[in-house]
Amino acid sequence: MRPSMRILAREHLALRALARIVAIEAELLARDGKVDLVLLELIAAYIVEFPNRIHHPKEEDYLFRHMRARAPERCSAILDRLLTEHSKEGESIATFMTALARYRDAQEGAAMQLAQVAGNYAKYLDRHIEIENTQAFPLAEEVLHEVDWQEIDAAFLANNDPLVSGNPQSRFGELHRRIMALGALPPGLR
Ligand SMILES: [Fe+2]
Ligand SMILES: [Fe+2]
Repeated sequence: MRPSMRILAREHLALRALARIVAIEAELLARDGKVDLVLLELIAAYIVEFPNRIHHPKEEDYLFRHMRARAPERCSAILDRLLTEHSKEGESIATFMTALARYRDAQEGAAMQLAQVAGNYAKYLDRHIEIENTQAFPLAEEVLHEVDWQEIDAAFLANNDPLVSGNPQSRFGELHRRIMALGALPPGLR
């Protein structure tokens, strides 16, 4: 596997594990009215800090840009969809954060609202990654040239995602441990 694709695969693995945790917490909240608030807040902080600032820009500025340049007729529809989803991510996370804050403040109806927002976010994230893995990335393999891959690989190797690196000193080290405890394939250790 090319270095850039391996990095994206690891980041997707970490994100999918997070989506799974969020979905489980949403179900527990809907059923019991209780949730691991600290864990959800940690996940929200991670998503604001890493996927939005590191993962999506790598896809947009390198992989997707080269795909569109090489084969716009084949790539535009799928890339437009994915970019639209990236552009809505900030808003989705803001909604998630607001629902978390309302729950933390024990506001009326906040538990059910958080369960719904968290459940929807988990579903969206999982579906977005599925489309990239099964449609966009195979298309990239078909349309990109070696010279494109060399530029993409070089740019991606400056990677610094704490869930992927598994750095225990990171404030996301606990999140990494929680993902491993879930039985997901540990990101960064494949
Ligand atoms: Fe994406
Ligand atoms: Fe992605």
